[in-house]
Amino acid sequence: MPKLTYLGHAGFLIEGGGSTLVIDPFLEGNPLASAAPADIHADYVLVTHGHPDHLGDAVPIAKANGAIIIAPFELATYCEGKGAQAHPMHIGGGFDFPFGRVKLTIAHHGSAVPGDRGMEYTGSPCGFVVSMDGKNIYHAGDTGLFLDMKLIGELNKLDAAILPVGDNFTMGVDDAVKAVEFLNPGITIPMHYDTFDVIKADLDDFRRKVEALKKDAVVLKVGESIEV
Ligand code: NI
Ligand code: MN
Repeated sequence: MPKLTYLGHAGFLIEGGGSTLVIDPFLEGNPLASAAPADIHADYVLVTHGHPDHLGDAVPIAKANGAIIIAPFELATYCEGKGAQAHPMHIGGGFDFPFGRVKLTIAHHGSAVPGDRGMEYTGSPCGFVVSMDGKNIYHAGDTGLFLDMKLIGELNKLDAAILPVGDNFTMGVDDAVKAVEFLNPGITIPMHYDTFDVIKADLDDFRRKVEALKKDAVVLKVGESIEV
């Protein structure tokens, strides 16, 4: 059974399929993070988009661990330019890795890394469906609600869906509840809330509304783990 650990914001550690994956490790500069980049030991680093609260410590973690970054082509190429190993993919594409399968989904958002010369654009943002040990985990990345979530739920029997709920930059609580209806996952784990003032969210409200759909919402504390 894959084990999920919440690292804060959109960051998760997934242990399964004989490997350790980390998604969107934003630790340095994250006021709510409890781990430091040096605490992360991973074989693969999945990055949904280039914004600093997602790309975060991905490159230093990948380099320190000899890990492979899995990201959309433009972002993967950016990471290779910073000296990390990368496996570029793109929306709609899946690949069988030694630990299991990763498929990239759409995400309605932006993707750029602020640099000395302004924004360096890093292509389309994405979400991930990670399949390992017979389980399917969907990490939506940063996104607004979209109707194609129905298709993601139809094509994959989702055991867990990790959804942003913080509003302002992504879906808020009510749209995320609608996403749960579309995706029909076993459990839903909220992310991307409370890290900054503009993304404060009412997680009790979220839990109540998901439970009203007869679905399970699991609100993880930073550092907390769950088996999927
Ligand atoms: Ni973003
Ligand atoms: Mn974000």
